[in-house]
Amino acid sequence: MTQDVTYRPLGAPDLDAAAALHADAFATLGERGWTSREMAELLAAPGVAGCLASGLDGTAAGFALLRTAADEAELLTIAVRPTCRRQGIARRLLKVVIALARDRGARSLFLEVGADNPGARALYDQIGFRTVGRRAAYYIRSGGPPADAVVMRLALD
Ligand SMILES: CC(C)(COP(=O)(O)OP(=O)(O)OC[C@H]1O[C@@H](n2cnc3c(N)ncnc32)[C@H](O)[C@@H]1OP(=O)(O)O)[C@@H](O)C(=O)NCCC(=O)NCCS
Repeated sequence: MTQDVTYRPLGAPDLDAAAALHADAFATLGERGWTSREMAELLAAPGVAGCLASGLDGTAAGFALLRTAADEAELLTIAVRPTCRRQGIARRLLKVVIALARDRGARSLFLEVGADNPGARALYDQIGFRTVGRRAAYYIRSGGPPADAVVMRLALD
Protein backbone atom coordinates (compact mmCIF):
# COMPACT_ATOMS: atom_id res chain seq x y z
CA MET A 1 0.00 0.00 0.00
CA THR A 2 2.91 2.41 0.71
CA GLN A 3 3.29 3.44 -2.95
CA ASP A 4 -0.47 4.04 -3.18
CA VAL A 5 -0.59 6.48 -0.28
CA THR A 6 -0.75 10.22 -0.97
CA TYR A 7 0.04 12.99 1.52
CA ARG A 8 -1.75 16.34 1.53
CA PRO A 9 -2.76 19.10 3.98
CA LEU A 10 -5.53 18.10 6.38
CA GLY A 11 -8.59 20.32 5.93
CA ALA A 12 -12.02 20.81 7.47
CA PRO A 13 -13.72 18.21 5.17
CA ASP A 14 -11.30 15.53 6.51
CA LEU A 15 -12.13 16.00 10.20
CA ASP A 16 -14.85 13.35 10.57
CA ALA A 17 -12.62 10.70 8.99
CA ALA A 18 -9.63 11.88 11.05
CA ALA A 19 -11.64 11.73 14.30
CA ALA A 20 -12.83 8.18 13.55
CA LEU A 21 -9.26 7.14 12.74
CA HIS A 22 -7.93 8.81 15.91
CA ALA A 23 -10.46 6.96 18.10
CA ASP A 24 -9.59 3.66 16.40
CA ALA A 25 -5.83 4.24 16.68
CA PHE A 26 -5.84 5.26 20.36
CA ALA A 27 -8.38 2.66 21.56
CA THR A 28 -5.64 0.05 21.87
CA LEU A 29 -3.81 2.38 24.29
CA GLY A 30 -6.92 2.77 26.46
CA GLU A 31 -7.02 6.44 25.52
CA ARG A 32 -10.02 8.44 24.31
CA GLY A 33 -9.80 9.71 20.75
CA TRP A 34 -10.46 13.35 19.88
CA THR A 35 -13.86 14.33 18.48
CA SER A 36 -14.11 16.08 15.11
CA ARG A 37 -15.22 19.21 16.98
CA GLU A 38 -12.11 19.13 19.19
CA MET A 39 -9.98 18.70 16.08
CA ALA A 40 -11.78 21.53 14.27
CA GLU A 41 -11.01 23.83 17.21
CA LEU A 42 -7.37 22.78 17.17
CA LEU A 43 -7.05 23.22 13.41
CA ALA A 44 -8.52 26.72 13.68
CA ALA A 45 -5.97 27.74 16.34
CA PRO A 46 -2.97 29.88 15.35
CA GLY A 47 0.01 27.95 13.97
CA VAL A 48 -1.79 24.59 13.68
CA ALA A 49 -1.61 22.53 10.48
CA GLY A 50 -2.09 18.88 9.62
CA CYS A 51 -1.08 16.30 7.05
CA LEU A 52 -3.39 13.51 5.90
CA ALA A 53 -2.25 10.21 4.37
CA SER A 54 -4.89 8.60 2.20
CA GLY A 55 -5.16 5.57 -0.02
CA LEU A 56 -6.00 5.76 -3.73
CA ASP A 57 -9.66 5.17 -2.88
CA GLY A 58 -9.56 8.26 -0.63
CA THR A 59 -9.72 6.31 2.64
CA ALA A 60 -7.83 8.03 5.45
CA ALA A 61 -4.81 5.91 6.44
CA GLY A 62 -3.21 8.29 8.95
CA PHE A 63 -2.64 11.89 9.89
CA ALA A 64 -0.47 14.18 11.98
CA LEU A 65 -1.15 17.57 13.57
CA LEU A 66 1.56 20.16 14.21
CA ARG A 67 1.59 23.48 16.05
CA THR A 68 4.33 26.06 15.54
CA ALA A 69 4.88 29.15 17.69
CA ALA A 70 7.96 31.32 17.20
CA ASP A 71 10.98 28.98 16.95
CA GLU A 72 9.32 25.97 18.59
CA ALA A 73 6.98 23.36 17.13
CA GLU A 74 4.95 20.62 18.80
CA LEU A 75 3.64 17.39 17.35
CA LEU A 76 0.06 17.44 18.71
CA THR A 77 -0.81 13.95 17.55
CA ILE A 78 -0.03 11.27 15.00
CA ALA A 79 -2.17 8.24 14.24
CA VAL A 80 -2.19 5.48 11.63
CA ARG A 81 -5.13 3.17 11.00
CA PRO A 82 -4.37 -0.21 12.65
CA THR A 83 -4.69 -2.08 9.32
CA CYS A 84 -2.17 0.27 7.64
CA ARG A 85 0.65 0.06 10.20
CA ARG A 86 4.31 -0.88 9.67
CA GLN A 87 4.34 0.40 6.10
CA GLY A 88 6.26 3.60 6.82
CA ILE A 89 3.20 5.90 6.84
CA ALA A 90 3.97 7.50 10.23
CA ARG A 91 7.63 7.96 9.28
CA ARG A 92 6.56 9.77 6.10
CA LEU A 93 3.96 11.88 7.95
CA LEU A 94 6.67 12.92 10.41
CA LYS A 95 8.98 13.90 7.55
CA VAL A 96 6.24 16.10 6.10
CA VAL A 97 5.52 17.88 9.41
CA ILE A 98 9.25 18.25 10.16
CA ALA A 99 9.72 20.01 6.80
CA LEU A 100 6.71 22.21 7.54
CA ALA A 101 8.06 23.12 11.00
CA ARG A 102 11.43 24.06 9.45
CA ASP A 103 9.72 26.16 6.76
CA ARG A 104 7.90 28.04 9.51
CA GLY A 105 11.17 28.84 11.28
CA ALA A 106 11.04 26.31 14.14
CA ARG A 107 14.38 25.20 15.56
CA SER A 108 12.98 22.46 17.82
CA LEU A 109 10.14 19.98 17.50
CA PHE A 110 8.75 18.66 20.80
CA LEU A 111 6.33 15.83 21.53
CA GLU A 112 4.95 13.84 24.45
CA VAL A 113 4.57 10.08 24.25
CA GLY A 114 3.29 7.52 26.75
CA ALA A 115 6.10 5.67 28.52
CA ASP A 116 3.95 2.57 27.90
CA ASN A 117 3.91 3.07 24.10
CA PRO A 118 7.01 1.25 22.82
CA GLY A 119 5.95 1.35 19.14
CA ALA A 120 5.68 5.14 19.02
CA ARG A 121 8.86 5.55 21.09
CA ALA A 122 10.77 3.33 18.63
CA LEU A 123 9.47 5.47 15.76
CA TYR A 124 10.63 8.71 17.40
CA ASP A 125 14.01 7.24 18.38
CA GLN A 126 14.50 6.18 14.76
CA ILE A 127 13.74 9.70 13.49
CA GLY A 128 16.30 11.19 15.91
CA PHE A 129 14.17 12.56 18.78
CA ARG A 130 15.91 12.62 22.17
CA THR A 131 14.28 12.39 25.62
CA VAL A 132 14.38 15.71 27.47
CA GLY A 133 11.90 15.17 30.32
CA ARG A 134 9.13 13.13 31.91
CA ARG A 135 5.70 14.02 33.33
CA ALA A 136 4.48 11.58 35.99
CA ALA A 137 1.02 9.98 35.64
CA TYR A 138 0.18 12.26 32.72
CA TYR A 139 -2.06 10.00 30.63
CA ILE A 140 -5.31 8.56 31.99
CA ARG A 141 -5.67 4.93 30.83
CA SER A 142 -9.06 3.21 30.93
CA GLY A 143 -8.72 -0.08 32.80
CA GLY A 144 -5.21 0.61 34.07
CA PRO A 145 -3.01 2.99 36.04
CA PRO A 146 -2.07 6.35 34.51
CA ALA A 147 1.05 6.38 32.35
CA ASP A 148 3.98 8.79 32.49
CA ALA A 149 4.61 11.03 29.48
CA VAL A 150 8.10 11.07 28.03
CA VAL A 151 8.96 14.50 26.55
CA MET A 152 11.12 14.31 23.42
CA ARG A 153 12.83 16.93 21.26
CA LEU A 154 14.19 16.91 17.73
CA ALA A 155 16.71 19.62 16.85
CA LEU A 156 15.76 21.13 13.48
CA ASP A 157 18.87 23.25 12.85
C1 LIG B 1 2.80 4.83 16.47
C2 LIG B 1 2.15 4.77 15.08
C3 LIG B 1 1.74 6.18 14.65
C4 LIG B 1 3.19 4.18 14.09
O1 LIG B 1 2.60 4.19 12.78
P1 LIG B 1 3.18 3.27 11.59
O2 LIG B 1 2.73 3.86 10.31
O3 LIG B 1 2.85 1.87 11.86
O4 LIG B 1 4.76 3.48 11.76
P2 LIG B 1 5.86 3.24 10.60
O5 LIG B 1 5.45 2.08 9.75
O6 LIG B 1 6.15 4.53 9.91
O7 LIG B 1 7.11 2.79 11.49
C5 LIG B 1 8.39 3.38 11.34
C6 LIG B 1 9.32 2.74 12.37
O8 LIG B 1 8.85 3.00 13.71
C7 LIG B 1 9.06 1.84 14.54
N1 LIG B 1 7.78 1.26 14.92
C8 LIG B 1 6.53 1.67 14.51
N2 LIG B 1 5.58 0.92 15.12
C9 LIG B 1 6.21 0.04 15.91
C10 LIG B 1 5.78 -1.00 16.78
N3 LIG B 1 4.47 -1.27 16.97
N4 LIG B 1 6.72 -1.72 17.43
C11 LIG B 1 8.02 -1.47 17.28
N5 LIG B 1 8.53 -0.51 16.45
C12 LIG B 1 7.63 0.24 15.79
C13 LIG B 1 9.85 0.87 13.67
O9 LIG B 1 11.23 1.20 13.85
C14 LIG B 1 9.37 1.24 12.28
O10 LIG B 1 10.28 0.88 11.28
P3 LIG B 1 10.23 -0.63 10.65
O11 LIG B 1 8.79 -0.96 10.37
O12 LIG B 1 11.06 -0.46 9.41
O13 LIG B 1 10.82 -1.51 11.70
C15 LIG B 1 0.90 3.81 15.08
O14 LIG B 1 1.25 2.59 15.64
C16 LIG B 1 -0.30 4.39 15.84
O15 LIG B 1 -1.14 5.08 15.27
N6 LIG B 1 -0.36 4.05 17.16
C17 LIG B 1 -1.49 4.54 18.00
C18 LIG B 1 -1.43 6.02 18.20
C19 LIG B 1 -0.10 6.44 18.81
O16 LIG B 1 0.52 5.75 19.62
N7 LIG B 1 0.35 7.66 18.41
C20 LIG B 1 1.54 8.27 18.96
C21 LIG B 1 1.20 8.91 20.25
S1 LIG B 1 2.54 9.92 20.84
